[in-house]
Amino acid sequence: MEKRENWGSKIGFIMAAAGSAVGLGNIWKFPFTAGNNGGGAFVLIYLIFVAIIGFSVMLTEFGVGRRRQLAAVGAFKSVDKRWTFAGVLGVLSGFLIMGFYPVVGGWALAYVFKVGGGLLSNPAAIGDSFGAFITNPSTPLMWMVLYLILNVVIVVKGISSGIEKAGKILMPLLFGILIVIAIKGLTLPGAMAGMEFLFKPDFSKVNGSVVLAALGQAFFSLSLGMGCMITYGSYLSKKENLVQNAAIVTAMDTAVALLAGIAMFPAMFAFGMEPAAGPGLVFVVVPTLFAEMGAMGSMFALMFFVALTVAALTSSVSLLEVVVAFLIDEKQFSRKKAVFSSSTVMALLCILASLSLGGVGPKLFGTGAFDVFDLLTDKIFLAIGGMLLCIFAGWRLNKQDLYDEITNKGEIKFGMFDTWYALVKYVIPITIALVAISGIRQGFE
Ligand code: PHE
Repeated sequence: MEKRENWGSKIGFIMAAAGSAVGLGNIWKFPFTAGNNGGGAFVLIYLIFVAIIGFSVMLTEFGVGRRRQLAAVGAFKSVDKRWTFAGVLGVLSGFLIMGFYPVVGGWALAYVFKVGGGLLSNPAAIGDSFGAFITNPSTPLMWMVLYLILNVVIVVKGISSGIEKAGKILMPLLFGILIVIAIKGLTLPGAMAGMEFLFKPDFSKVNGSVVLAALGQAFFSLSLGMGCMITYGSYLSKKENLVQNAAIVTAMDTAVALLAGIAMFPAMFAFGMEPAAGPGLVFVVVPTLFAEMGAMGSMFALMFFVALTVAALTSSVSLLEVVVAFLIDEKQFSRKKAVFSSSTVMALLCILASLSLGGVGPKLFGTGAFDVFDLLTDKIFLAIGGMLLCIFAGWRLNKQDLYDEITNKGEIKFGMFDTWYALVKYVIPITIALVAISGIRQGFE
């Protein structure tokens, strides 16, 4: 068998996997989802899901990917043809996420230029300007296309050159700028109410749909349940410690989400904004926060949107890569053809998604395309994908093989192996099924 391309270095893999995980999910989605779901209790449940389910599923994805040396669909199919559908479901999730993710990526890109063009000079108009921007039928489309083109360029070049480099530069910049924003927000009068909202659980706000939202957020944010980490794991060297890698990536992703929350909520409460401000949250809070700082403020805001765009890019290229790897491995497409054909379909989905924000286009149950793609993937497909992977690993794969893969044939100590295995085999599938059922029932009430 031809030797598979490997990541350039250990740090390169961690940066690429963390680059996939850290993205709009952490900085754009986490704060407004926490806001919509009542704050503290949601955050606590999310953290529990991340630590127990997220970490275990990520380890499983890395393990299965490296064991099979194949991307998502191939990893399932090569073991048992009847399991192909589980991989295909992941590819479908990738498609659907790429049906709205580049829309928001385009907003981030646009905001780099908007901030550069003097957006902060009229703080009172920042909120309205966002609303007017995203509901405009044409301008966001242009940015979305530009954003998608960046993805195409990176993915056409193959994995290690493009994705690794972007990830390495980005992460420290993003982290640094979020800390600046958090400090700035925390020093405003009235900021503590925001910390309380975010970290003081009010369990009266918990119901089935809040719990499902927390589970979906955990999967989405960690890039799990659609084969992305299986694909990345398949490129990982046999020498690497999977447990450690999974722990580092999970911790980094969660740290960025919490930091984004701390950067947003204190400032929002200080400004008297609604916690349930929705998708505009980062696009309004960050510019407003820096507005009265003059040129310095514009500089920080500019750096923030550059970092946000790059963070989004390192995630969306991983989504695109899952679809592309499927077309190359299973349908014998050339890389170029795979990238161009899939990104064209994604662009069409994104047009539907973007237009739906201005009220244009078809609706499903009264919901526009943007929300349909988002809801379907993060609340249903990813969780079901994760559940299927766990059932596959727990019931179809050989326990000894998993042990060998995850511990590098016993070289690496993983004393919790049996706990992990029991989680994957029983606890996680049952939990996901229960959470999904109760959340979906609540949604229809
Ligand atoms: N984890 C990415 C984010 O938080 C999104 C993503 C989901 C990427 C699923 C790959 C797979 O932005």
